[in-house]
Amino acid sequence: MEIEPITPHLGAQIQGFDLRDISNGRAEHLKDMFVEHRVLVFRDQKLDRDAHKSVGRVFGQLHVHPSKKAFEMKGDPEIFKVRAQADTVKVNGGRWHMDVSCEENPPAGSILRLLKLPPHGGDTVFCDMTRAFETLSAPVQHMLLELEACHDGERDLRWYGLTPNPDQTYPSWTHPVVVAHPLTGKPVLFVNEGFTEEIADMSYDESRSILDMLFAHIARAPGLQCRVTWEPGTVVMWDNRAVQHFAVHDYAPHERLGERVTIVGQGPPMAWKPELLEV
Ligand code: SIN
Repeated sequence: MEIEPITPHLGAQIQGFDLRDISNGRAEHLKDMFVEHRVLVFRDQKLDRDAHKSVGRVFGQLHVHPSKKAFEMKGDPEIFKVRAQADTVKVNGGRWHMDVSCEENPPAGSILRLLKLPPHGGDTVFCDMTRAFETLSAPVQHMLLELEACHDGERDLRWYGLTPNPDQTYPSWTHPVVVAHPLTGKPVLFVNEGFTEEIADMSYDESRSILDMLFAHIARAPGLQCRVTWEPGTVVMWDNRAVQHFAVHDYAPHERLGERVTIVGQGPPMAWKPELLEV
């Protein structure tokens, strides 16, 4: 097996690891690589849906996306489909986000495989939220440590032009703006353009200005990011507690179709305290 970092900070491409074989020692190895690199790109995989779900279960229970309940979607509840067709205007995940951060207990990670690739393009870009926090100035870091923000699923829906029916609800939850990664204790900037609606206890204008500054910091810094180009047989998994991602829609009118398995988180994100770094 070969582990080739994608950048010195984020992501690794793994060659020679068949994800259909996740017997005990290999499962532990997989979990270690996941925590270390946070974005893992496996090439030449031959997963079917059941094997895909088995890989997800190495990390925990499988998550059911709230849209399955809000829109009474049919199909396997543990499979979230990403689909872009010729006339799709906004693709799943087509702006910076962490998956379903609007839940009390946001997912720990996601694993995506594509069933249909466009001839070119359709990359996924990831951004390291620990480095995003660490590259802010000290005064801004200190201000953020005091703050909480509301993550609202309906913000995400509005972007796609969707609204739940009046009798249906979509999650909304308030989380600290800087959280501790549950396994490493490292700080993670925990606001994202997809779901974070407002910072608590502030005027609308103050909240908007701070969020816009942070969203721009994430979007404008290629040095915090890694970019993954898909090939037939590629499977990508990302640590949803550590990175944000962006699905690049540069391939219309071609189609792109994938299935994502998402892993339930270990509990609500906890505020990061500077002393956690020394532990
Ligand atoms: C997503 O999970 O947000 C979609 C990522 C992708 O389609 O590349």
